[in-house]
Amino acid sequence: MKLAIVGAGYVGLVTAACFAEMGNEVICVDADAEKINGLKKGRIPIYEPGLEDYVRRNFNEKRLFFTTDLAGSVQKSLVIFIAVGTPQDKDGSADLSAVLAVARDIGKHLNGYKVIVEKSTVPVGTAAKVRAVINEELASRGVDFEYDVVSNPEFLKEGTALDDFMKPDRIVVGCDDVRVAELMKELYAPFVRTHHPVIIMDVVSAELTKYAANAFLATKISFINEIANICSLTGANISMVRQGIGSDSRIGHLFLFPGLGYGGSCFPKDMQALIHTARSHGYPPRLLDAAEAINFDQREKFVEGIKSYFNGNVKGLTLAVWGLSFKPGTDDVREAPALTVVSRLAELGATIQAYDPQGMATAKQELGEMPQVKYVSSCYEALTGADALIISTEWTSFREPDFERMKSLMKQPVIFDGRNLYNPAKIDQMGFQYFYVGKKIGAQ
Ligand SMILES: NC(=O)c1ccc[n+]([C@@H]2O[C@H](COP(=O)([O-])OP(=O)(O)OC[C@H]3O[C@@H](n4cnc5c(N)ncnc54)[C@H](O)[C@@H]3O)[C@@H](O)[C@H]2O)c1
Repeated sequence: MKLAIVGAGYVGLVTAACFAEMGNEVICVDADAEKINGLKKGRIPIYEPGLEDYVRRNFNEKRLFFTTDLAGSVQKSLVIFIAVGTPQDKDGSADLSAVLAVARDIGKHLNGYKVIVEKSTVPVGTAAKVRAVINEELASRGVDFEYDVVSNPEFLKEGTALDDFMKPDRIVVGCDDVRVAELMKELYAPFVRTHHPVIIMDVVSAELTKYAANAFLATKISFINEIANICSLTGANISMVRQGIGSDSRIGHLFLFPGLGYGGSCFPKDMQALIHTARSHGYPPRLLDAAEAINFDQREKFVEGIKSYFNGNVKGLTLAVWGLSFKPGTDDVREAPALTVVSRLAELGATIQAYDPQGMATAKQELGEMPQVKYVSSCYEALTGADALIISTEWTSFREPDFERMKSLMKQPVIFDGRNLYNPAKIDQMGFQYFYVGKKIGAQ
């Protein structure tokens, strides 16, 4: 099939590369000329394992094209995916300006029947807004072309995006027409040969499904963090409690790790957008509000814990930070808990020696000029002369470090582990003071 994917970000670029990999002819369009020029030269704008190979192969074999020309891409394609950003607006709602700008451009250049797919995460009712904008443009051109608007939310995870896209748990398609449903099924057939379902539903339900999925996962994280906080007060072992409940197949082990809470470009803004949707319909979403509040507090509590260990004052201390990205496997630092922790401690007068395997450039850009934050080139360099180590992202390379070497580099062998990576008994034995989420600072 001939496809256009508008937006060459984490979702758009992966979607374009994976559809091309299956033999489709894909034009990937972005408004950012620098990004598109880079892609044409083989420069991948984000870190995503395996993506570079996919892009290079399909570009060289002329199934994947990059352009800033939206008009031409719309005219040459049957299916047009909108995969641009939907950031949080000031009132918490999803900012749809990029989605609607693309819809308007599509309306300006429509030249025959097209299927227009919402791939971006958009609130209930957006398909109707997309239609309204396109109809306005068609009316002003004095033309009348048929088209369909489909909701096809994306569930990929940064860090494993290619695998998630190539082997999805399910594909959700919201549409009002049986023929369009068949076309979408055909497009996705190569990805669901393992019998994972393509679930066809109405557009509004598909739009809500994406928010419901993210809200459930975010709530699961806040739930285990709340239990960890209760553990820290009662002396219960959060690791044992987690295993004890996760083994129940109704609960499961995934997304049940205590830590600094959720971040990234999706959960925080999608929770806010769903809360906004509920409120705008007169419904107070108490569970979602609580999950958000717990998540917000989690980072602040962690910083408070570090402060209290140092008798309320971190001024003049050198603190090593391992991990800046919002999770391992990505360079994405949007809403990363690590950045909140780093900026709070820097504001309190500590010097930060930070290391991340992929997220240094993006973190530098996001945090801006902060003289107290030094970016170093290895996790051990970060420890030189450090009064404590803070672990804020669970990169695999942090899981089995050389603890003896760490101790020899640090001024004080203290670890504040915001991701609960280590076995407390083992670390204590090696002479570290080890604090993790679920253990009260000061408790031995
Ligand atoms: N990142 C994820 O893990 C993920 C997962 C599932 C769903 N989503 C959703 O997918 C959408 C895209 O997210 P992302 O992380 O890929 O965003 P992103 O910021 O990485 O990429 C968005 C791209 O769209 C381009 N763009 C913006 N306006 C444009 C326009 N008018 N015309 C052409 N290009 C334009 C930008 O230049 C950018 O390259 C969001 O709605 C997000 O919530 C993201």
